[in-house]
Amino acid sequence: MSNPFDLTAKSILVTGASSGIGKQSAITLSQQGAIVTITGRNEENLNQTFTALSGSGHQKIVADLTNETELAALIANAAAFDGIVLAAGIVKVLPFRFINKAEMKSIYETNYEAPILLTQGLLKAKKINKKASILFISSISGVKVGLVANSMYSGTKAALSGITKTLALEMAPQQIRVNTLAPGMVRTEMVTGGVSDAVSKEALSEDEKLYPLGYGNPEDIASTVSFLMSDAARWITGTDIIIDGGYSCK
Ligand SMILES: NC(=O)c1ccc[n+]([C@@H]2O[C@H](COP(=O)([O-])OP(=O)(O)OC[C@H]3O[C@@H](n4cnc5c(N)ncnc54)[C@H](OP(=O)(O)O)[C@@H]3O)[C@@H](O)[C@H]2O)c1
Repeated sequence: MSNPFDLTAKSILVTGASSGIGKQSAITLSQQGAIVTITGRNEENLNQTFTALSGSGHQKIVADLTNETELAALIANAAAFDGIVLAAGIVKVLPFRFINKAEMKSIYETNYEAPILLTQGLLKAKKINKKASILFISSISGVKVGLVANSMYSGTKAALSGITKTLALEMAPQQIRVNTLAPGMVRTEMVTGGVSDAVSKEALSEDEKLYPLGYGNPEDIASTVSFLMSDAARWITGTDIIIDGGYSCK
């Protein structure tokens, strides 16, 4: 009997694969049999992910997704995919009255424009196969809850949620599914580095108490990514999947 969760021979692109959620997703997908193409900016970190992959046939491409030339090269050099996981992203914690155009532009280009243009470029180049799964890693922030000093980030993630619904409708005739996965706080460089620049350790530990199951780990997200890439999720499209250890259920 065939296993609908099996990813054997599925070709999957993972962005943000040099760190955190993208890195673990690439590793887990390869453990489930997928052939992955990983991309990120930091070559050394990307190499570490590459070494940790199971199986063979994988590919790595160093690229800054906000750089038009590098984005075009990534699309040109890529194979056709049965799934894409768009995990690359940045955070900027700033109270609303201190936000400015330059910061907004930078976070918008990385978190919204880049994954959308990459997806569009692959579709135009006919590099997304029928029955593929497109997955934007968004966040509960903006999609499900508001978080203080997170307005710019929240806006980009809510925008992904918006475009997902239209794209899901446009792709449905080809049985291509489009979803967002919206995590709560996950222990990655984004939290231990980016967020902790602005939020004290004590505040983070108080925040974790609001999570019935505590903060998540990249593995917790990667197993859901793996499910959403598989044929077991073939009737899930156009939706935000919240994964937050119960944070938003109160
Ligand atoms: N951690 C959380 O609590 C949390 C919660 C909700 C949602 N998310 C979302 O989950 C995704 C992954 O976050 P994470 O926690 O794994 O963060 P992370 O550990 O900081 O990793 C971010 C990844 O994005 C890549 N990236 C950033 N800017 C890029 C660019 N211009 N071009 C190409 N790659 C770029 C980084 O590549 P390099 O390091 O190579 O530059 C890195 O691989 C993000 O979209 C984030 O918003 C995270």
